[in-house]
Amino acid sequence: MIPYASLPALNACLNAASALLLVIGYGFIRKQKITAHRICMGSAFAVSVLFIISYLTYHAHVGSVRFQGQGLIRTAYFSILISHSLLAALIVPLVLRTLYLALRSRFMEHRRWARWTFPLWLYVSITGVAIYELLY
Ligand code: HEM
Repeated sequence: MIPYASLPALNACLNAASALLLVIGYGFIRKQKITAHRICMGSAFAVSVLFIISYLTYHAHVGSVRFQGQGLIRTAYFSILISHSLLAALIVPLVLRTLYLALRSRFMEHRRWARWTFPLWLYVSITGVAIYELLY
């Protein structure tokens, strides 16, 4: 039996964990700590895969959840939601490419791609938490 009511909170935690791992992993590569960087970024990827599974499981069961707020908060919510959703789709190929290049030891190219992947992925993770806070 899946505890559907708990999944939104779990999803927000997974988003927060991936944001944290990305920031820590970035800190490691700035200090040339490649193994620690690899572990953090690999973990951020694993956590994000878990998020997608949990997110799809929840929405397959519950359908869409309507935002109840009105006025300025509604504008803010939909601005965040739309930018979050568009970038969430965009980062899938970016993350896969960035990871692939690193795993093939093509680090010069990895770095070029990662400079886009890292901030966009971080934005998607953080706004994922914000959307949860606004919606539930
Ligand atoms: C998708 C996950 C990953 C992201 C988002 C990511 C992010 C980054 C970023 C932003 C940089 C550039 C840092 C800077 O400009 O100073 C970088 C560099 C680097 N990353 Fe990753 N990384 C990921 C996975 C990996 C993995 C799995 C490895 C495996 C060893 C790795 C190894 C490296 C190395 C060696 C560099 C230094 C490259 C250079 O300066 O020439 N990364 N990464």
